[in-house]
Amino acid sequence: LGGAGYVATRYLEANDDPRSDSQGPRSNPKPSYGSSDREYELTVTTGEIEAAPGETVETWLYDSQYPGPELRVREGERVRITIRNELPTETTVHWHGMKQLGSNAMDGVPGVTQPSIEPGEEFVYEFDAAPTGTHWYHSHVGLQLDRGLLGPLIVEENDPHVAYDREHTIVVDEYLTGEPKITSVDRGMMSGFPGGPAYDGTLVNGKLPSDPDILSVEAGERVRLRFLNAGSIKSHRVSVSGHTMQVTHADGPAVEPVEVDTFDLGMGERFDAVIEANRPGTWEIRARPLDDKTPSGRTLLHYDGSDADEPRRESVGTRRLEYGDLTAVGALDQYDGPPDQTIEVDLSTGGMMGGDEGEWQINGQVYPDADPIHIKEGDHVRLRVVNHSPMRHPMHLHGHHFVVKGALQDTVTVPGHMGQRMMDFVADNPGDWFFHCHNLYHLHTGMARLFKYE
Ligand code: C2O
Ligand code: CU
Repeated sequence: LGGAGYVATRYLEANDDPRSDSQGPRSNPKPSYGSSDREYELTVTTGEIEAAPGETVETWLYDSQYPGPELRVREGERVRITIRNELPTETTVHWHGMKQLGSNAMDGVPGVTQPSIEPGEEFVYEFDAAPTGTHWYHSHVGLQLDRGLLGPLIVEENDPHVAYDREHTIVVDEYLTGEPKITSVDRGMMSGFPGGPAYDGTLVNGKLPSDPDILSVEAGERVRLRFLNAGSIKSHRVSVSGHTMQVTHADGPAVEPVEVDTFDLGMGERFDAVIEANRPGTWEIRARPLDDKTPSGRTLLHYDGSDADEPRRESVGTRRLEYGDLTAVGALDQYDGPPDQTIEVDLSTGGMMGGDEGEWQINGQVYPDADPIHIKEGDHVRLRVVNHSPMRHPMHLHGHHFVVKGALQDTVTVPGHMGQRMMDFVADNPGDWFFHCHNLYHLHTGMARLFKYE
């Protein structure tokens, strides 16, 4: 097999019998409007996560699965997803990475693009699947994401720019045995930052490190690994023991392949990497939380036919993907020349830049008590982001991808201690779009703004 052959096979199988495969379309809800090529139905309900060997905790999940079912769509398709809310409280679903061109109302931000879906109610999302690549979906209400309301959303390319024989999705997330809640994070001199709880560990594809998921490969294959950090607080350093990785996609869109041994993956970010499976055995794929005592997560890469003994952990090297290493495949002509509008974005916490202690801020304001940022359709907009706090902030804009040093990304991690990022986008998608930190606890305590088209 070459190219996307493997993907195409799965796609056809899913289509042959839509009810035979949890990754295929599952039902046929009543049409809302338009016409769709792909239909899914998800129930938001309770389910269980194994939080320690043999110990399960009940939480909120999509279709009682963790991570939620992987939704797969083909490039150019229109997708319709019916959400049935069986939680005791309201919810919405955001399709992280989807452009939602002309579909602002499908973006899933409660009180901004739609009213929340009440308990017992249904809501039908419908949109064009674009851009291609590795994306995800998650609740956009309160701290529900950190209860496990998340899953991968894959838009398959018709013509991938790199060949591969097989693929696996790798979802990294921390877990808690208790309920998510805001805490005060003590950082030495500056105490009292609002933050999240201390996690018990890291799950990869929903599995504890003691009982890891096993991804199978065959010697000689090129394997595409789709990494998603669905966690709420931690960035992770990712590596595949015994193998170098070619990073091929960032937040969905294709990049010129870059060979590395490791990369850092911020909350909400995705990287796809292709490895050459040429070292038979069992190997460990590791996700290590940065700056933190939270235990690492892992999954295993197992070559068919080799003994499944203890995985080998030997590293290959230390070449880490750096900011600026990535270049988008294809022209970015719209971004040539000076921007039409430049917006300064200061990230800070109260008590540092003025304002109230204990809240995360953008330009000194705390959402929802914050003015919208106005942009004009057709403009090339530049965000100059400066981080006045010591913590990193993965900044995400809905409905757009930014050009960041030549790559297109929808979530960009701004390092702490005066870290800076320049993020350019073209205002080509009228609507009201959320811009926020993807540290869920920073978002929840005010680090968000609304971008409004004039
Ligand atoms: Cu992934 Cu506004 O979120
Ligand atoms: Cu943040």
